[in-house]
Amino acid sequence: MKRSPVAALRLFLASALFLLSAACLSAQDIPLSGKWKFSTGDQAIWAQPKFNDSSWAAIAVGAPWERQGYKGYDGFAWYRLHVVIPSSIREHSFLKERLRFNLGKIDDGDQVYLNGVLIGQNAGSPGTIEAGQWQAERVYTLNIDDRRILWNKENVIAVRVYDHAGNGGMYEGPYGISVADVTDFITLDIGDPFHFNGPRQLSKKIILQSTSEKYDFTGKLNIRVTDPLSGTVVLKQTIGTDFAHDRPFEYLYKTTLPENKAYEVTYDFTEGRSGKVISTTEYIPYILTPAPSPLPRINGPEVYGVRPSAPFLYKIPATGQKPLEYTATGLPAGLKLDSHTGIITGSIAKKGSYPLQLTVKNKSGIGRRSFTIQCGPTIGLTPALGWNSWNCWGLSVSDEKVRQSAAAMAAQLSDHGWTYINIDDGWEDKRDAAGEVLPNNKFPDMKGLAGYVHSLGLKIGIYSSPGPRTCGGYLGSYQHEIQDAASYARWGIDYLKYDWCSYGEIAPKSPGLDDYKKPYIVMRDALDRTGRDILYSLCQYGWGAVWKWGGGIGANSWRTTGDIEDNWKSLSTIGFQQDKAAPYTAPGNFNDPDMLVVGRVGWGPSLHATRLTPDEQYTHISLWALLAAPLLIGCDMSKLDPFTLGLLTNDEVLAVDQDALASPAVKAWSKENIQIWTRTLKSGAKAIGIFNLDNKPARVTVPLSEIGLQKEQRLRDLWRQKDLGVHTKEYNATIPAHGVLLLSARTIAH
Ligand code: GAL
Repeated sequence: MKRSPVAALRLFLASALFLLSAACLSAQDIPLSGKWKFSTGDQAIWAQPKFNDSSWAAIAVGAPWERQGYKGYDGFAWYRLHVVIPSSIREHSFLKERLRFNLGKIDDGDQVYLNGVLIGQNAGSPGTIEAGQWQAERVYTLNIDDRRILWNKENVIAVRVYDHAGNGGMYEGPYGISVADVTDFITLDIGDPFHFNGPRQLSKKIILQSTSEKYDFTGKLNIRVTDPLSGTVVLKQTIGTDFAHDRPFEYLYKTTLPENKAYEVTYDFTEGRSGKVISTTEYIPYILTPAPSPLPRINGPEVYGVRPSAPFLYKIPATGQKPLEYTATGLPAGLKLDSHTGIITGSIAKKGSYPLQLTVKNKSGIGRRSFTIQCGPTIGLTPALGWNSWNCWGLSVSDEKVRQSAAAMAAQLSDHGWTYINIDDGWEDKRDAAGEVLPNNKFPDMKGLAGYVHSLGLKIGIYSSPGPRTCGGYLGSYQHEIQDAASYARWGIDYLKYDWCSYGEIAPKSPGLDDYKKPYIVMRDALDRTGRDILYSLCQYGWGAVWKWGGGIGANSWRTTGDIEDNWKSLSTIGFQQDKAAPYTAPGNFNDPDMLVVGRVGWGPSLHATRLTPDEQYTHISLWALLAAPLLIGCDMSKLDPFTLGLLTNDEVLAVDQDALASPAVKAWSKENIQIWTRTLKSGAKAIGIFNLDNKPARVTVPLSEIGLQKEQRLRDLWRQKDLGVHTKEYNATIPAHGVLLLSARTIAH
C-alpha cells in the first residue's frame, strides 16, 4: 500500500498484521458521549486543563442546550470533558498516522481545545466563531505523535461555542476519538448525477480515489441495483479496481429499470489487503409528474388579496404550448391585463370582492378558470410560492444569483404559480449619515433588481432582523424600522422575512409573550405606513407558540421551528409535528415549517445534491402542501434537474397547498410507522397523505372509514394525476421507505 520500490515485499509481510489491526479498529474507538460539563459565558481560562470545572452543571451532548434548562439562551458557552486516551488504539492501528476527534454538529460556531491548545475551529467569514456553520460535522485531527495528546492520561477537551439565535450547542453526534483507518484515505464518489437516456434507461459514473499521495489501492467494487420491495436484483456487477491519488478509477455503469418507481443502489468497495469495506447506498430518482401537456391550462390559486390603492401585480400562471393568449372578464377598474404575458397590473381603489373569468388560449384549445380578487385588508390569502436564497447560497447571495434565479423561475416555474424571489441574509451593508440602510457591494442597485424581477411578472422579497444585527452578523433594523420599511417600499419590495437573531440582546433575559410580540408589531406598523403590499413573514423559530398570535399581530406567516436541514431526521421531526399549529391557519395567516431542501442546496458558496432520497423529497413536498405551508424553494434554480423540476411543477399537488379554504392537514390516523394526514379542500374533497416513516417499504390498508370517509370514494393519485377508481371502507397500497401516497378523495353523491 505504501508506494516504494520494495512495496510488494513489505506489503506481503505487513498484510497479516494489517488485517488484524483493521478488524480491531472500530472496537478501539473512544466514545465521547459521556460526562460533559457545561457553563454559559466565556472565559479563556476554561480552555485550560487545570481549571476546576467540578461545580459546572452536567449536560448531555446530542441535544441543544435549550432542551436542557437553558431555554432562550444565545451567546457563548463552554463544554468540557475529561477523557483518558489509551495508547492501545495507536498500537492496534496499522497506519499510526492521525488521531481524529469527532464532535458532531455544533450550533453555530466553535473552537476546540485539547489540554489548553486550540486544535480546530469552525468559523465562517470573517473568521470568528460567531459566523460558524452549524450544519457542519466537526472532525478535527492531529498527527498521532502530536505532543498535545497525553497518552494513557487524562486529557481535557474544551469546546467553546457561540450561538447567535435559536438552538445552541453540541446538538447532534456522533462523538468519538479514533485513529484514522485505511478507508479514511479512500473516496467513493457517487456525486455524478444519474443520466437518463430514456425514461428508465440510465447511466452513472462512479469514482474511486486515494486522498493521500502516500497510498494507492487495489480492490473490488460491487454495484447492485435492487427493487427494495421484492428484493429482486436488477443489476449486479463486480469490477476489479486499482487507483491512486493522481490516478482515480472511473467506472460508468448502465442499467434499464423495469418500472417507474424507487430502486436502491448499493456500492461496496472491498479494499484488497485489509478486507475493509466502504459502503454507500442511494436511490434512483423517478419522476411521477406527467410530462407537460400542450393544452392550455390555468394554474395557481383561485383567490388573490390586494389592499385598496396598493400597486397590483399578478401573472396568471398557465401551462400549454406557447404562444398563449390571455383574457379576463370582470377586471375591476384600475387593472389591465397584458394579453401576451398574462401579467395584470394597476391598482384598485375600492374595497370589494371581484369575481373574474380567466381564459388562456393556444392553437390546441382553451383553458378557463374562475378567479376572485379580494380587495381588502388581507393579502397572501394562499401560502407564498417562491424561492429564498438561504438554503442554497447562504451569505454568498448576490445580485447576479438573484437575477439568475428570477430568470430560471420565469422560464420553468412561474407557469405553475411560483412567484416570490426572496433575498435572505447577506445583502446589508451599513447606514449612511441619515441612517438609511445601504445594500452591500454584492447588490449595487436594489431598485433595478426589483424592477427586473417585476418585469418577469414575479415579486421580490428581502430579509432583516429586529435586532441590531442579523443572524449572519449583518446590519439589522433595530431603531430604524420605519426608515427601513420605507426603503423596501421605495425599492419595490413585496415580502419581508423578519428574523429575531440579535434581538435577544434587546429583549429581557426570559422574554414573556409581549416581549416576543413587541418587535414584530413595530415592524408591522412600519410596513403599514408604506402603502405597499409587503407580505410579512416572521422568523423566531416558533417561540411563545407564535402560531397562536402571529395572525393577530398581522403576520402572513411565521416559522414554527428551528432551521431545517437536508436529512430525514430534520425533515420528519419538523414535518410530522405540525398539527399542533394547524388550527391557527386562515387565509392570509400560515404556519411556516421552514423552506424546502430539494435540489442542490448548501447554505454557502458550494452546493451539493440534497441528502434526501427521492421518496423523502416526495414526502417533503406532499406534507408541506398538505400543511398549507409557504413553499420556498431553497436550491440553485439555474440547475434544476428533471426530477426536481417534476417535484415542483405538479399542478395537482400545488393546488392542495394553494387551496382557498386554507385548512391544513392534521394527523387523522396512525399505526406503527404509518401516518395518514388529511385536509379538507374548498371543493369538499379531501387531500390525503399516507406516509411511511419506516426505512423499508410497507404494504398498507388505508382504512377509509376510519379517516372520515364513510361512503363510496372516488380516489385519485395526485402525483401521477391518475384516477384510482371507486373504493369503500379501505384501499390497499404499497408505500416506499420514507415515502408517501398523496390522494384526493371525493364522496360519490347518489
Ligand atoms: C436563521 C434563519 C434562517 C436564515 C438565517 C440567516 O436564523 O432561521 O432561515 O434566515 O438565519 O442568517
